[in-house]
Amino acid sequence: MSAVSGRLPVFPWDRLESYKTTAAAHPDGIVDLSVGTPVDPVPEVIRRALTEAADSPGYPTVWGTPALRDAITGWCARRLGARGLEHRNVLPVVGSKELVAWLPTQLGLGPGDRVAFPRLAYPTYEVGARLAGAEYVAYDEPTELDPAGLRLLWLNSPSNPTGRVLGKDELRAVVAWAREHGVLVFSDECYVELGWESDPVSVLHPDVCGGSYEGIVAVHSLSKRSNLAGYRAAFAAGDAGVLGELLQIRKHGGMMTPAPVQAAVVAALGDDDHVAEQRERYMARRTALRAALESAGFRIEHSEASLYLWATRDESCWDTVGDLCKRGILVAPGDFYGPAGDRFVRVALTATDERVGAAVRRLES
Ligand SMILES: Cc1ncc(COP(=O)(O)O)c(C=O)c1O
Repeated sequence: MSAVSGRLPVFPWDRLESYKTTAAAHPDGIVDLSVGTPVDPVPEVIRRALTEAADSPGYPTVWGTPALRDAITGWCARRLGARGLEHRNVLPVVGSKELVAWLPTQLGLGPGDRVAFPRLAYPTYEVGARLAGAEYVAYDEPTELDPAGLRLLWLNSPSNPTGRVLGKDELRAVVAWAREHGVLVFSDECYVELGWESDPVSVLHPDVCGGSYEGIVAVHSLSKRSNLAGYRAAFAAGDAGVLGELLQIRKHGGMMTPAPVQAAVVAALGDDDHVAEQRERYMARRTALRAALESAGFRIEHSEASLYLWATRDESCWDTVGDLCKRGILVAPGDFYGPAGDRFVRVALTATDERVGAAVRRLES
C-alpha cells in the first residue's frame, strides 16, 4: 500500500514553527497575524440558535434541513443577487476546506484530468488535485489556459492571499470561456462580504452567469463573515446537476453538518447586523496595520478585499518573516501560496484590537 500522504506537500504551517517560537519570546507577547483565524466572539444570535438546537439526538441530513436550504437560497438572492435558486441548487458542506480538498475526488477526476487554480492561491486547490491523482496547473489568466483535459477551474475572488477582486466583466468572460470549452467552474467566494475598496461580485450574479447556473458553482463559508470557523459551516450553490451528484456521494460518505450547526447557520444567514459590526472591526484594524506597514517601508499590493494585506519590502519573504518575528509579529510567507509570492508576506487582520495596537507600535518604533 502506498501512503496517500505521500502525494501531499509538506504542511506549510509546520515550516513557520521556529519563527513562531521566536515571536512568542517577545516580552510583550506574540502578535500572530499568520493564520486568518477569527478571534472575535461568535455573535449572540448565532450562539442562541446553536444552544436552542442542542437537543438533537437524531442524524442530520447531508442536504440539510429545509430551513437551512431556504436560508441559503434567501441569502444568495439578497446578498449576491442570484435569481431563481431552488433547493436543488444548494449543498451544505462541513466547512469549505473539506469541499475544496475532496472535490476533484468526488467529481471522479484522476490521471489525465487537469485542475486549474490561480498562480497565487489557497494551497488546498492543489491538495485536492493531488489527492485525486489529477494533474494541476496554476494560471495567470484563465482564458489563456489550454482547455484540453481541463475539467475543473477554480476562481477565488476576493483572493486569498492577495485580496484581489475580479470585476464583473472578467468573471463574465471566464464563465463564457469555460462554458464554451465544457470546463466546470467552481468559484470560491468566502470573502465576498469583506470588500473594502471594491464591491466583490459573485459568479451567481445574473450579469455574470446570464441567469443560468449551468457549469458554475459558488462556494461560500460562514467562517469569516460570521466568526464561525470553529463551527465548520459552508455551502455550495449553483449547477443542480453537479450538486446533485455531489449530494449522492456525500450521503454515502456521511458528510453531514451537525444539526445544531445547521440551526446556527440559519440564524447567521438571516442576520446582516453582525456582519456589518464585524466588518467595522476589520476595517479599523486594516487601516491601522496598513499605515504602520507603509511607515515601516512596506508596499501593499491589491488587498482591496478579504482579511489580508499583501505586503512586500522587495526582499525574500523569509527575510521579512525573520525580521518581523524578532519584533514579536508573525506573518505568513508569500511562498505558501505559490512561488510567485516569494517576495511578499500575507498579514492577516484577524487579531484583537489590543494585539493589532501592539503590532502597530512595534512597526512604528
Ligand atoms: C480561499 C479560501 N477558501 C476556503 C477556505 C476555508 O475556509 P473554511 O474551511 O473555514 O470554510 C479558506 C480559509 O482560509 C480560504 O482562504
